[in-house]
Amino acid sequence: MAYEKIPDSVIEAVLKHHDIVETVGKYVHLSKHGKYMKGLCPFHSEKSPSFTVTPEKGIFYCYGCGKGGNAIKFIEEIEEYSFPEAIRIMAEEANIPITWSGSQERQQSADGGDRDTLIEAHELSVKLYHYLLMNTTHGQTALQYLRNRGVTDKQIDHFMIGYAPPEWDTLTRFLEKREYNLALMEKGGLLIAKQDKSGYIDRFRDRIMFPIWNRDGKVIALAGRMLGEGQPKYLNSPETMLFNKSRNLYNFHHARTAMRKSRRIVLFEGYMDVIKAWSAGVHNGVASMGTALTEEHASILQRNVEEAVLCYDGDNAGQAAALKTIPLLERVGLRVQVAMLPRGMDPDEYIEKHGADAFMRETIEHPVSATKFRLLYAKKNHILLEEEGQKNYLLEAVGIIAVLDSPTEREFYLKELSREFDMSLDSLKQDCFDRRQQLQKMKPQRDNNDNSWNNGRNENRENRRTSSAPPVLPAYQVAERKLLAQMLQDADTANTVHQKLGEAFNVEDHAALAAYLYAYYAQGHDPDVSRFIASLQDSRLERTAASILMTDDDIPFDEHLLADYVNEILKVPKFREIEQMKEAMVRAERSGDMLKAAQIAIEMNALERQLKGRQDDRF
Ligand code: UTP
Ligand code: MN
Repeated sequence: MAYEKIPDSVIEAVLKHHDIVETVGKYVHLSKHGKYMKGLCPFHSEKSPSFTVTPEKGIFYCYGCGKGGNAIKFIEEIEEYSFPEAIRIMAEEANIPITWSGSQERQQSADGGDRDTLIEAHELSVKLYHYLLMNTTHGQTALQYLRNRGVTDKQIDHFMIGYAPPEWDTLTRFLEKREYNLALMEKGGLLIAKQDKSGYIDRFRDRIMFPIWNRDGKVIALAGRMLGEGQPKYLNSPETMLFNKSRNLYNFHHARTAMRKSRRIVLFEGYMDVIKAWSAGVHNGVASMGTALTEEHASILQRNVEEAVLCYDGDNAGQAAALKTIPLLERVGLRVQVAMLPRGMDPDEYIEKHGADAFMRETIEHPVSATKFRLLYAKKNHILLEEEGQKNYLLEAVGIIAVLDSPTEREFYLKELSREFDMSLDSLKQDCFDRRQQLQKMKPQRDNNDNSWNNGRNENRENRRTSSAPPVLPAYQVAERKLLAQMLQDADTANTVHQKLGEAFNVEDHAALAAYLYAYYAQGHDPDVSRFIASLQDSRLERTAASILMTDDDIPFDEHLLADYVNEILKVPKFREIEQMKEAMVRAERSGDMLKAAQIAIEMNALERQLKGRQDDRF
């Protein structure tokens, strides 16, 4: 594997530099509980904290979902990086020179380094465009346009907004001079080939340029807006080896920290909305780009947040888009709310007209539920001043409410309807009940259709509810865990256990951990749980190790305790043997071979006595 090449010294330096509390603290609010820090697990949804960090050991562990490991593992899990990717990013942050041939080479071998070259060219282009906007007379009109729209210089810097001048070859010459392969630049969407194939020209001309970043904050595409009216208003990079618009969201990398902390994302329709809302205080805002939100977007969001607030344009198109987006987000398990804007306004216009405070106070901070939104949306289609219109709306509304799983929620909305239209709650309830029965009949089919791809998640949710109470472990498993906990922190104990027990742990993962640990000490390492975990490179073992370390207690460890544990562990195979003998005896009896049965009984008794004797020895 490629990552075997990452030197130990780098892993060590990365772990040394990235303190577990600091690393986790960027994503999770932690509070101190004795030796531990506790917080709400970022990997599963929970109301009371079962996510634990032990600063002293440099590890985290969640009792709810079982995720655990060191700081590197945390970054791997939360950012969805591979091990080498995580190391790389963390090393970069800590200014640790990246000298090994890790993840980068892996990509280079796959595509000859084209991706890296293209990203580099994108980043240079963004710098060029930004420079042209801010510092040259070419950029003046564009700069004025932005300022007129209320975009401050601070926002321009933060979002690295730029300007592509009207000439045909500004960027082409710039890239050529730096010896970039222009064919590759064309493939990457920065340039276009001339019709007669005699060369290349710039894709973006006389446009305000918005860089588009991937989740790591690397520029992978660009969007250019016309200065005035015209078509197309926005020109986006095409789909390239770097950019896939159904998977990328504008501003995702900036929004990550805030969205992880608040477990919430705000979805906008446009670039400008994200930018304006950012300075109004919405730091968890993103937008899809020239496409409706896709299932892929939804599943990316689902991994990062629990709740999505839709803040789409207040016009018909925007509201219709919101209506379509809601089920997409609900299907992956997100709670959806809608921040309503006055008819015909988009967030950017609202902020310009009413100010940032009003925007936060009146829209973002007071979204309506998805159901409420559906009801409001339906209402617009009926003329409520006419009886017929009222009746039709009521029936449609009952249909919207009927799909809700929670009886309380259903009652809540039905009551609201009954008040609003002065209808008896009973009749609304009856209609709702009938509607649910109809739905029930149609259900099996629906389940097959749209839940198949989503089963994993539902299953997860189920597990979550049941898995919060830690299971009661059999004594031998407790013994194995306690021994390992001590062995992980003390080489002498590991040595003794090695002699007495070797790898004869009964739980497979425990045996594996012991084997790795013996090897780890044999290589001359000192105890260091976080480093040891880094050396495992096996998620299951890492979790097991973390969970073992979390449950250790303060009972002083001594050689008697060690002997007890070893005994407890060695007993298991003997008990298993006895169980097998019992079965063999029953089989022999059944087949009428009494002699064999008696022989087995004698052996069995001897073994049992031996086991008892050993237990008695200890007291
Ligand atoms: P809008 O037309 O609502 O534009 O398109 P906007 O975001 O409000 O931009 P301003 O305020 O007029 O400058 C919403 C989004 O749809 C995509 C862009 O991602 C845009 O932000 N879009 C729109 C395109 O990709 N191409 C277009 O020609 C228009
Ligand atoms: Mn707009």
